[in-house]
Amino acid sequence: EQEKKFRMREAHRIVTELYHEVLIQTEAGDAGRIYLENRGIREGAMREFRLGYAPDQDRFTVDSLARRGFDLDEMVEAGLISIGRDGDYRDRFNGRVVFPISDRDGTIVGFSGRSIDGRDPKYVNTAETPLFNKSELLFGFAQARGAMRKIKQVVLVEGNLDVVRVAQAGIPYTVASLGTALTPVHAQNLARIVDEVIICYDGDKAGRAATLKALQLLEAVAVDCSVIRLPDGEDPDSFIGNQGEETFLHWIEQERVSSLEFKSFYFRQGKNLRLEGERVRYIETMLEEIGRTSNPLLRDIYLGKLSEEFKLSKDSLIAQVRPTVQQPKREQIVSDRPAALPTAPPDRT
Ligand code: UTP
Ligand code: MN
Ligand code: MN
Ligand code: MN
Ligand code: MN
Repeated sequence: EQEKKFRMREAHRIVTELYHEVLIQTEAGDAGRIYLENRGIREGAMREFRLGYAPDQDRFTVDSLARRGFDLDEMVEAGLISIGRDGDYRDRFNGRVVFPISDRDGTIVGFSGRSIDGRDPKYVNTAETPLFNKSELLFGFAQARGAMRKIKQVVLVEGNLDVVRVAQAGIPYTVASLGTALTPVHAQNLARIVDEVIICYDGDKAGRAATLKALQLLEAVAVDCSVIRLPDGEDPDSFIGNQGEETFLHWIEQERVSSLEFKSFYFRQGKNLRLEGERVRYIETMLEEIGRTSNPLLRDIYLGKLSEEFKLSKDSLIAQVRPTVQQPKREQIVSDRPAALPTAPPDRT
């Protein structure tokens, strides 16, 4: 079993370098390179993230692996190739720009392939395999790790392209969960390294709902969060395309709002606060959220805001804040870990 995983890792390394070489150095990669260039990705970033292009052939990867003596059924299990309707081995990412996904040590364990000609589905991703556990992996983690440790912050985005584009704009501490919601494992892994998570999801309904969920998970592991609310319809990648890198950097610095500020916006959406019932529900929800907030200053600020906006006495609001479920300090979470995990520095697992 260990040897099988070893072979699967080796195959991923080889295929990554093949796709990368095709993209950077061959005519067969022109379509992929032009696509990425049109999307504002420069060669430096293509190299850093080991981006690639899988030629639009049924058996490019199949033959490359077979020639090197890999067992093809094992390669199917690794998610590198698949079995077609005719029962033959065939490529999985053909005709796609490929984003290699590595584990926290930088070992490549899967791919995300984006179509470049409008063909569906937009993304083909590695499914669960012995190496690839989607709920634990973050795209860009290996590249971001050094900067995250140093700056103690991470920018969390939705998509692979967002990561590359934001890193290219000068924020190397950027990661994305892989097309799924953030999981408790992701939250734990980030909390071990950074003091603050800056959530910058897409400016659409799905992105806003995902932001709320991510805040709740991150707050459960007691890490500070802030949110960038992108304009409607924009994601980090399109925002940088439309407004430029400088403006994006400015937004990250200046337009960050607290978790409570985001929630206040979120829970107001679609409500008519002039109606008593809706107003009461909104105030109750915010009181609950304020009760969950560990920062006493922020709690005070938002109680003040509520009291002012709705002409309620601050004392009566304070009386209604539910007793907080005391959040553990991050140090305690770390020291509560099984002894097998190292204690200091906490992120070196
Ligand atoms: P988005 O739909 O926001 O895609 O999904 P995107 O990142 O902006 O991609 P572009 O700009 O259209 O190229 C966010 C992420 O969800 C996953 C991908 O990881 C994507 O980056 N996703 C999305 C899938 O896995 N499959 C899909 O069909 C769509
Ligand atoms: Mn994107
Ligand atoms: Mn999206
Ligand atoms: Mn998007
Ligand atoms: Mn996008």
